[in-house]
Amino acid sequence: MARLEGRVALALERRPALCLFAVVLALAGSLASCAHSARPAVATVVPSPTVEPAFALNAHLARSLNLDNVLEAPCDGQSGAASLEGDLRAIAEAGFTGVRIPVRWSWHAAKAAPYAVDPGFFTRVDQVVKAALAQGLAVVLDMHEYEEMAEGPEAQRERFLALWMQIAGHYQSYPPELALELLNEPSGELTPGRWNDLLREAIAGIRRTDPQRVLVAGPANWYGIASLGDLELPAEDRAIIVTVHYYDPFEFTHQGAEWVEGAGDWLGTTWRGTPAEIEALSRDLDTAAGWGRANGRPMFLGEFGAYGRADAGSRARYTAAVARGAEARGMSWAYWEFCAGFGVYDSVLRGWDGPLLRALVPPAPTP
Ligand code: BGC
Repeated sequence: MARLEGRVALALERRPALCLFAVVLALAGSLASCAHSARPAVATVVPSPTVEPAFALNAHLARSLNLDNVLEAPCDGQSGAASLEGDLRAIAEAGFTGVRIPVRWSWHAAKAAPYAVDPGFFTRVDQVVKAALAQGLAVVLDMHEYEEMAEGPEAQRERFLALWMQIAGHYQSYPPELALELLNEPSGELTPGRWNDLLREAIAGIRRTDPQRVLVAGPANWYGIASLGDLELPAEDRAIIVTVHYYDPFEFTHQGAEWVEGAGDWLGTTWRGTPAEIEALSRDLDTAAGWGRANGRPMFLGEFGAYGRADAGSRARYTAAVARGAEARGMSWAYWEFCAGFGVYDSVLRGWDGPLLRALVPPAPTP
């Protein structure tokens, strides 16, 4: 329930087209996409060499998808994703520009010092990262579901830092289209103060190994927009993308969610795009984008979406409103998620949910 309270409290391989696209978003805060039959046209701009790498990569992440249930499943292969390479090709061909990949590193590392990550798991993660990069997708590797961090962060501190030293070293030579996200949705005992301290220490450690790598970090309290004001980052470190998650109204997005107590009572909640609903959404997105502007940080909406038990019309309306709202404010996004409970893709039938896909990546207007 802590998650509910936390969330409710919120009130470019380098395809030339993508590079160009990155510059558009980074400079103008506007959004376009690259060519396939269903994608919007790319706006014409003059690329600028002065765009900071974090802004450029964030622009490459413009329209991303969370690749759920691959590397954070109890056992890899439980995702139902039949062919990873095929899925990643389908994702790129559908018009998505990046993937955020949740990784449950904590399940694949020793519990005692030096907390070695299983080399076989690194090999598996590498395979997924390389397959995504080969499709021209930007990649965020996210440390996901390290639940012990919320329960006893002090006890996990040394292990968390040791994991990051290993991960940073391992990916040091990877292309700049790979970003590393420090911890999904810090919450619970990992209070804003503790999170800021840990973040500072982890970033300083990573920078000793990989000074250039773009990192992704968000505020305590489940990456809530309302908690951005608590987030402290090293001011001199410009290679950081700031992320938030958005699931408001929670009773709509999580209706029927088996992992949320009482969510069965919310079944039937709709999202019609009424003036009040649009106003609430705009206010929240304005807060996030305004914080980014005020602090000179690129903003990434790393998760949003509505669970599959909401009605299809409301899901598509909500998804389109959040995605367009983020784009209009110069924020990149990653929809939660590819092919599970919030999924936009059916991995058994191997087909997209048409309305949801069009909500995320609208077809180009016919001339
Ligand atoms: C969690 C998922 C959950 C989703 C929506 C993610 O951060 O890892 O388990 O389905 O948020 O609640």
